[in-house]
Amino acid sequence: RDNTRRRTIASTATAAASALALLLAVPAAAATPTPGAPTAGDPYYPTYGNSGYHVSHYDLRLRYQPKTDQLQGTATILASATQDLSRFDLDFSLDVSGVWVNGQQAAFTENPGAHKLQITPAAPLAKGSDATVVVRYSGVPSKVTVNGINAWLRTPDGAVAADEPEAAWWWFPSNDHPSDKATYDVSVEVPKGLQVISNGVLTGQRDTATGTRYSWREDKPQATYLATMAIGKFDITTGKTKDGIPVVNAYSKDLGANAAAARASVERSAEIIDWESRYFGTYPFDALGGYVPNVKTHYALETQTRPFYSPAQFASGSNASVIVHELAHQWFGDDVSLERWQDIWLNEGFASYAQWLWSEYQGEGTTQQLADYVYAQHPANDPFWTVKPGDPGADHQFDDAVYDRGAAAIQALRNTVGDQAFFQILKAWPREHAYGNGDFAQFQSLAERISGKPLAQLFQTWLFTPQRPAAATAARAWV
Ligand code: ARG
Ligand code: ZN
Repeated sequence: RDNTRRRTIASTATAAASALALLLAVPAAAATPTPGAPTAGDPYYPTYGNSGYHVSHYDLRLRYQPKTDQLQGTATILASATQDLSRFDLDFSLDVSGVWVNGQQAAFTENPGAHKLQITPAAPLAKGSDATVVVRYSGVPSKVTVNGINAWLRTPDGAVAADEPEAAWWWFPSNDHPSDKATYDVSVEVPKGLQVISNGVLTGQRDTATGTRYSWREDKPQATYLATMAIGKFDITTGKTKDGIPVVNAYSKDLGANAAAARASVERSAEIIDWESRYFGTYPFDALGGYVPNVKTHYALETQTRPFYSPAQFASGSNASVIVHELAHQWFGDDVSLERWQDIWLNEGFASYAQWLWSEYQGEGTTQQLADYVYAQHPANDPFWTVKPGDPGADHQFDDAVYDRGAAAIQALRNTVGDQAFFQILKAWPREHAYGNGDFAQFQSLAERISGKPLAQLFQTWLFTPQRPAAATAARAWV
C-alpha cells in the first residue's frame, strides 16, 4: 500500500522525478523474497521472537482437559509482512497438525525444543501485505521442556499459563517478544463445573455438548508474556470501578488458610487503581481484576488487566503492596512495554517505587526512608550492588537489585529533579508511549526534557555502575 502511494505522488511530480521513481520501483518490485530471521534481535534472549512480520491480533480457540493436561485448538493470527517474505517462524512448542496462510495450506517444520515453528507459505508475502495464519495444534504442555524450562503450571483442578519472560510457548504460537504487541480473543472450552480466566472482558460463556466455553477479549495491545489463561474452580467476584470499568476477580476454591487474606488484598484493586491514577494518569484498560489460582509458585505477574497472584503472596496476611506493584505495571510494562529486555528497570523499578509511594500514603515508611533503608541494608561489599539495574543480564533480570536499587534510583531521580518535574515525568511516560513501547534512552531524554537537567551522570551512578553509589547521591540535593 505504501508503494502504491509513493508511485502516485511521483506521477504528479516532474518527468525526471517520475522516471527516477520508476527506476527505483523496478528493482523493489523484483526483490527476491527472503526468509524472516528467527529472532527479534534482542541480545538478552537471542532466540526469542522473529523478524519479517508483525502481529496485530491473536484469536485462540482452545479446549482443555485437566485430567490429562491435553490442550488442543486453533490459533488464527493476523499479521503483516515487514519485508518480502518467503518464510517465517513463530515461537511454539506444542504439536502442530496443520498451517494455513491466506487460506492456503502451508509447509511447516517443527522444532519444539528450540520453541520454533517454521512456516513456508504457498506464495511469498509481499512487504506491507496482510496475512492470516491459521495453526492447528494439540499437546500436553506439562510434558514440554524447552531449554530446561517448563513454565506451565498445573493445579489440582486445572492449569495456569503465567510467567515472564517465557509463557506463550506452552499454549499458543506467537511472535514472542514484547516489542510486537497485539490484541487477543481467547476462547477455551473446559469440562462442566470448571471456569476459564483470561485477560480483558468476558464476552461469552455458554454450555456446549462437552463442557462450557468461556470467551475473553483484550482489545488493547498486549505483549505475549502478559497474555494469561487459568482453568480451575474459582469463586468469582464482580464489580465496577468508579469510572465504570468492569472488575472481575477470581479465587481458587481451595486457597485454604490464605483465602481471606487473598480477598482482603485483591478486592482492593479498584481502590488501588483509583489511587495510582493520580500519579500515573488515567487507567489505560477497559477491564480490571486479579486472580489467585491454587499454584505452589511464589511470584506474581502483571498479566494485562488481570494480574496473577500466587497464594504464597498472602501466607502472612493481607498484602495490598503486591496489588499496588502488579497494578502499577499496568502503566509501566503493560501500557508502555519494553522494546528490549535489558530495560526491565522501566518495569520493575517503577512498580517497586509505587509500593514505596503506597507505604508513605499508608502512613508507614516514606519513600526516602525506604531508599535509605535499602542503602543501609546492603553494605558496600554486598554482591547486591554488583547487579546493574539498567543492564542486569538475562540471568539477573529479576534480582532484588532491579527492584530495590531500581526504586532507590527513582528516589535519586526525584531528589535531583524535584517533586514537580518528577511527578510530571511519571505521567508523561505512559502518556507519550500509550499502548506502545519505550526504551531507556527515550526515558532519559523525556526526564531531561521535563526537568531541564542533564541526568546521564545520575543514571550512570544508579543504574549502570556495579557498585554502591556514594551515600550523598541519595540525599535530597534540592532541599
Ligand atoms: N514481573 C513479575 C513481578 O514483578 C516478575 C515475574 C518473575 N518471574 C518468575 N518466574 N519469578 O511481579
Ligand atoms: Zn514487577
